[in-house]
Amino acid sequence: PLTDAAALARTAAEAHRGLGAFNVVHLETARVLTQAAEDAGTPVVLQISENAVAYHGGLEPILLGTLAVARAAGVDVGVHLDHVTRVDLVREGVSLGATSVMFDASALGDAENVEATAAVVRLCHDAGVSVEAELGEIGGKNGVHDPSARTDPGDAARYVAATGVDLLAVAVGSSHAMTSRSAALDTDLIAAIHAEVPVPLVLHGSSGVPDDGMVAAIRAGMTKINVATHLNGIFTGAVREFLAEHPDVVDTRTWFRAGNAAVRDEAARLLRLYAGV
Ligand code: G3H
Ligand code: ZN
Repeated sequence: PLTDAAALARTAAEAHRGLGAFNVVHLETARVLTQAAEDAGTPVVLQISENAVAYHGGLEPILLGTLAVARAAGVDVGVHLDHVTRVDLVREGVSLGATSVMFDASALGDAENVEATAAVVRLCHDAGVSVEAELGEIGGKNGVHDPSARTDPGDAARYVAATGVDLLAVAVGSSHAMTSRSAALDTDLIAAIHAEVPVPLVLHGSSGVPDDGMVAAIRAGMTKINVATHLNGIFTGAVREFLAEHPDVVDTRTWFRAGNAAVRDEAARLLRLYAGV
């Protein structure tokens, strides 16, 4: 069933588990990721980024389809808007039934980030929707790999108190859109932020983090683990292989199935790893 991602993250944090949050890039992905969660017997968060909204020509088609998949699921599924920079898109998501939103004001100065985020929190909380925000800009969003940003623990605690956010994304050594799993996370910093911040922590750019680094990060207090690029790469690799072996195939569903099956397996493996099961 459809469940608030922040509530799922609080439950996972109390149990010292990670919660997989994977991006829905096409409607097929929503179903495949939900099947993976059912295979693993864990919750999952399905997230739709502002980029995916642009790709689909609007929020409604991809969000309503994803919500329908979540409601029919045999495990708890959060439906979350990811990296939203436009308040009008937050409003649309809230009115269409998203259960949580990441409002990304990380490119603004700190004072403007607090002001803009607090306003989004008021509007979302009035509608029963949870909010994730980012403090310390996590690199890679502009295509340039940069793991150097760091979030200060005291700043993080003050930011959460000033904005009222339910989830906090922090900069601890990851960077978006890495295609090699070679990022080294600052686990001491994760533990220090976790000790001071009362809400679950979120890792963006998790594709670049190897399995052992992720387990260490979860043990140090990281909870919501956002992965997009890695699963996209798994899909594309499986499709590339399938099409090379079946050069005469025409029906698009045939090769989508090959990509979907590979994503389902890898997403289930990651969900089990994060949950420690
Ligand atoms: O918000 C989405 C995540 O941060 C995904 O990042 O594509 O590097 O895994 P990634
Ligand atoms: Zn991200």
